[in-house]
Amino acid sequence: MQRSSGDQEGEAARAAVLESRPTPNGSLGVEVLDFDVRETDAETAAEIRALVHGEKLVVFHGQELSTTEYIAFAAALGQPQIYFQENYHHPDHPEIFVSSNRPLNGEKVGVAGTGRYWHSDYQFFEEPLPMTMVSPQQVPSGRRGTNYIDMEAVNAALPEGLRALAEGTRAVHEAKWRYKITPEDVDKSITEILEEFGALTPTVTHPTVITHPATGARCLYVSRGFTVGLAELERNESLRVIGELFDFIERDEHVHFQPWELGDILLWDNRQVVHRASETPPGEPSVSYRIGVYDGLPFYADEARGRLYE
Ligand SMILES: [Fe+2]
Repeated sequence: MQRSSGDQEGEAARAAVLESRPTPNGSLGVEVLDFDVRETDAETAAEIRALVHGEKLVVFHGQELSTTEYIAFAAALGQPQIYFQENYHHPDHPEIFVSSNRPLNGEKVGVAGTGRYWHSDYQFFEEPLPMTMVSPQQVPSGRRGTNYIDMEAVNAALPEGLRALAEGTRAVHEAKWRYKITPEDVDKSITEILEEFGALTPTVTHPTVITHPATGARCLYVSRGFTVGLAELERNESLRVIGELFDFIERDEHVHFQPWELGDILLWDNRQVVHRASETPPGEPSVSYRIGVYDGLPFYADEARGRLYE
């Protein structure tokens, strides 16, 4: 499959047009062929954003980038994010969120074992993160990659009873249950830690089904990682319904596994997929660099932003 965007005249005038084909196992996303992301200009950046919005997951191969080149690629696509917790930052580049179980120069860097539950990045903030890119830096032997679920497809396949409960409701999201203890937490009680982190990340709501601002796709926007209920339902009913939603979402036939190779960049749309990191075999080093990107569009078209949960 060849794919490109922009008007025909503009494409004809340009030497490089992105070409892509479905990822090898074909269930989600495309891989871009023969493109060096260091050559991203304003036009190709627009093409890449359109490709991510259209295909949900885009994979680039063979990219050998310095950290500054990697950040420059993110900056060409939009506004790179600075993650709100500093313990995740690369020591020299706060834009880079480090997932690592390997010390650097004898020092702990970043956080190990991140994102091993189904989630969408920053779902627990009023303004979630539109796009995420990940570049593996050290790949353990064996199977390592990221799992994805297409939430537009899941929404379309929802059983009627669940669809009726999801449409028109708001889902409630919290980060605190996924908080990772830091050295500063020693001597604090679990209650204190939850209260402090809960104050930093107050509970929010978003529509349970969101409308994509660029494509109009309707996507179920809940995850077992961060969603704790549906605002309109009584507590027991809420827990029952979100449990049924999670079980339906996470069916094996909905999961796309994207393996990691050195030189890959995986870039996805958090509005349209949930993701989960694969497990690293015990004792194996694993390092990846993530950058969040704000793509200049509201997260969803239903309304400008999420709401604090009262
Ligand atoms: Fe994530």
